[in-house]
Amino acid sequence: MAGLLLQLLLTVFVMAVSLQGWLPLGCLEEERTALLQLKDALNYPNGTSLPSWIDGDAHCCSWESIVCNSSTGRVTILALDSTRNWELGDWYLNDSLFLPFQELNVLSLSANRIAGWVKNKESLGSLKLLDLSGNDINKLIASRGSSNLSALILNNITTYGSSLQLLLSLRAFPNLTKLDLSNNDFRGKILGFLDLKNLEYLDLSYNTLNNSIFQTIGKVYVT
Ligand SMILES: *[C@@H]1O[C@H](CO)[C@@H](O)[C@H](O)[C@H]1NC(C)=O
Ligand SMILES: *[C@@H]1O[C@H](CO)[C@@H](O)[C@H](O)[C@H]1NC(C)=O
Ligand SMILES: *[C@@H]1O[C@H](CO)[C@@H](O)[C@H](O)[C@H]1NC(C)=O
Ligand SMILES: *[C@@H]1O[C@H](CO)[C@@H](O)[C@H](O)[C@H]1NC(C)=O
Ligand SMILES: *[C@@H]1O[C@H](CO)[C@@H](O)[C@H](O)[C@H]1NC(C)=O
Ligand SMILES: *[C@@H]1O[C@H](CO)[C@@H](O)[C@H](O)[C@H]1NC(C)=O
Ligand SMILES: *[C@@H]1O[C@H](CO)[C@@H](O)[C@H](O)[C@H]1NC(C)=O
Repeated sequence: MAGLLLQLLLTVFVMAVSLQGWLPLGCLEEERTALLQLKDALNYPNGTSLPSWIDGDAHCCSWESIVCNSSTGRVTILALDSTRNWELGDWYLNDSLFLPFQELNVLSLSANRIAGWVKNKESLGSLKLLDLSGNDINKLIASRGSSNLSALILNNITTYGSSLQLLLSLRAFPNLTKLDLSNNDFRGKILGFLDLKNLEYLDLSYNTLNNSIFQTIGKVYVT
C-alpha cells in the first residue's frame, strides 16, 4: 500500500515537472537546446570549450559557467569569460543565439576574440549587465530595445580608428548607470557624442582624453 502510494506520488511529481517543462537541476528544454547551439557556435569549427555541456544531459543548470533561477529553472547568468579557443580566429557573434534565454540578466563574454556583434530586431530585454571586455570589437551595432541594460563593460575592446561607430551606438542603451570604457585609446573628440542621462559610474581610465567629454555627460563619478 505504501509502495503504491509512493509510486502514485512519484508519478504525479514526474507529471508536474514535465508539464513545467523542466526537471530539478535541469533547465527548460528550449534553453538547453539553445545552450548546445551556443556551444557549437563558440567552438566552430573545432574548438574544445565547455566540455561539461553535454547533449543528452538534462541537468544543464549544473553545467559550468551557468546560473539558473531555482524557481523558474531559467538561465539567469552566462559567465563565458575566456572560454573560446583563441586559435579559432575572430568570432562574429549573432545575438539571436541568446534570445531563448528570457530571464538572462548577466552575459559575460570577455576575452573570447569577438570581433563583431550582430544585433537582431528582437532584443535581449532582460539583460542588465553585458561584459564584452578583452575582445577586439570594431563594430558594435545596437538598435532599439536594450533599455533595461544598466551596466555595459567595454574595457579593452577596440583600437583607435574604429571607436566612433562604437560610441554612437551607445545611444541604444538609455538606461545605463554604469559604463566601463577603460583601456580603449578613445580620444576626447569622439566621447562628445555620449548622451547617457542616467549614468552614475563611468570608467575612462587608460584612454587619451580631454575635458570636452564633461560638457555632454553631466554628473558622473570618474575613476
Ligand atoms: C582547428 O583546426 C585548425 C586547422 O585545421 C588548427 O590550426 C587549429 O589549431 C585547430 N584549433 C583547435 C582549437 O583545435
Ligand atoms: C527567480 O524567479 C522568480 C519568479 O519569476 C522571481 O520572483 C525571483 O526574483 C527570481 N530570483 C532571482 C534570483 O532572480
Ligand atoms: C542570426 O541568426 C538568425 C537565426 O539563426 C538568422 O535568422 C540571421 O540571419 C542571422 N543573422 C546574421 C547576420 O547572420
Ligand atoms: C525590461 O524589463 C521589464 C521588467 O522585467 C520588462 O517588462 C520589459 O519588457 C523589459 N524591456 C525590454 C525592452 O525588453
Ligand atoms: C586586452 O585584451 C587582450 C585580449 O583579451 C589581452 O591579451 C590583453 O592583455 C588585454 N589588455 C589589458 C590591458 O587588459
Ligand atoms: C528605461 O528607460 C525608459 C525610458 O527612459 C523607462 O521608461 C524605463 O522605465 C526604464 N527601465 C528601467 C528598467 O529602468
Ligand atoms: C579636445 O576635444 C575637442 C572637442 O572635440 C577637440 O576639438 C580638441 O581638438 C581636443 N583637444 C585636444 C588637445 O585634443
